[in-house]
Amino acid sequence: MSRLVPVGLVALSVVPLTAGTLRLVQLAGGPDLMPADERFAGFPVALVAHIVGAAVYALVGVLQFVPRLRRHHITWHRRAGRIQAATGLLVAGSALWLTLFYPPQPGTGDLLFVFRLLVGTAMAAALVLGFRAARNRDIPAHRAWMVRAYALGLGAGTQVFTEGFGGAAFGTGEVAGDLAKAAGWAINITVAEWVIRRPTLRTRRAFA
Ligand code: HEM
Repeated sequence: MSRLVPVGLVALSVVPLTAGTLRLVQLAGGPDLMPADERFAGFPVALVAHIVGAAVYALVGVLQFVPRLRRHHITWHRRAGRIQAATGLLVAGSALWLTLFYPPQPGTGDLLFVFRLLVGTAMAAALVLGFRAARNRDIPAHRAWMVRAYALGLGAGTQVFTEGFGGAAFGTGEVAGDLAKAAGWAINITVAEWVIRRPTLRTRRAFA
């Protein structure tokens, strides 16, 4: 079961990370492997930072969920954790930058604008609280905040499904699309809260 978690997390990140790579290829002057977006003409620092930060955040984050690495290679876990916190803040910060200072994505509305501000802020806050808890050696709080931050970040992956199913069930209108994206974050944070509250293997053994 514990091996399936990292595999599932990588699978969830595949579509947004592939889209990001194709966008970077295009911005670097390569072929148009995805539809060009005139809002991102030139070399948009916010978007490039967002995509590069998200790739490192998603992939390094997966390794933080491998119990063996976390328990037996604590120095590695700490170093990777600092990279994780820095790139997570880059993802959240650039997401707020894109939301506030770029023209809205065509077909999206005010609801998504508000959700993005909330999620970007919540993700940054969770990372800061998680980092602070680690410094204070409060491991349960550290784990909880880092799981929440990762879940919010990976909303981009779950949105591939919620937008697909939402579009098929409710159409592709502005409100339906915004709610489908919000559903991706809602699902992830619900799963995160379940993971945080579920008894650990050690607790289960103690009560067996
Ligand atoms: C690790 C997680 C994430 C990944 C892999 C990811 C991936 C991407 C990619 C590939 C793009 C570029 C889309 C394009 O080129 O058209 C993008 C854009 C964007 N992302 Fe993320 N993202 C992540 C997390 C987030 C979070 C947490 C938020 C919100 C709080 C967010 C908000 C945005 C915004 C506002 C844009 C610009 C959308 C537009 O106006 O077209 N992202 N993201």
